[in-house]
Amino acid sequence: MSTVCLIPAAGAGTRLAAGRPKAFVDLVGQTILERAVRGVLDADVDAVVVAVPADLVSEAQALLPDCHVVVGGAERSASVRACITAATASFDVDVILIHDAARALTPPDLFRRVVDAVRAGAPAVIPGVPVTDTLKAVEPGGGGERVVATVDRSVLRAVQTPQGFAPDALARAHASGGHATDDAGLAEAAGIPVTVVPGDLMAFKITTEWDLRLARMLLESTGVR
Ligand code: CTP
Ligand code: MG
Repeated sequence: MSTVCLIPAAGAGTRLAAGRPKAFVDLVGQTILERAVRGVLDADVDAVVVAVPADLVSEAQALLPDCHVVVGGAERSASVRACITAATASFDVDVILIHDAARALTPPDLFRRVVDAVRAGAPAVIPGVPVTDTLKAVEPGGGGERVVATVDRSVLRAVQTPQGFAPDALARAHASGGHATDDAGLAEAAGIPVTVVPGDLMAFKITTEWDLRLARMLLESTGVR
């Protein structure tokens, strides 16, 4: 039995606007995707399946000789389903991790924490970090936005990847063919209990130019190659 990590990397990177799909943007001498895969392989994962845009399959195969590369879909959930199909056809899996390519600096310890929680019996496991800003609910009004309420942040978590699943739970979550910004969202909709383990600030998602600058500075400050 093995742990397989699925990496959706087929997004356009619209908010980053770097001139090419986000996973293929340079991050200190390697693509964001290569850095993400390296983090996964450092965490004792047995196999990696990556979904990329159709026109970048050959490039991804050349960059990632140890990975199985598939064509992604128009939405993240469709890219994940392309990976699930390939993974379940090729491997005898007991834990499936799903990890955004865009979380390129995720430390190996976080992968292990999620895998351990699935092995301990949780069908769906996600990393979460406390929210530090004061949060306001707003509505349009007053020439801009008007505050409706201050939200109790103590019960909120900002959720990251890798998200871990027992294979049957992940199959049930995706059986509807629905779409959500993460896989736990589909699991929740299917009535599957989702467990939160402590996340890691280094698992932040590179979404905007600001995040890419932060990732570059973090890598350069630690002298990583
Ligand atoms: N993703 C994917 N297939 C899609 C859309 C997203 O595999 N059709 C992946 C992205 O490549 C990324 C992860 O899902 O690794 C999280 O998505 P996000 O950060 O939103 O990336 P993009 O969709 O590329 O960015 P944007 O929304 O700004 O276009
Ligand atoms: Mg997106």
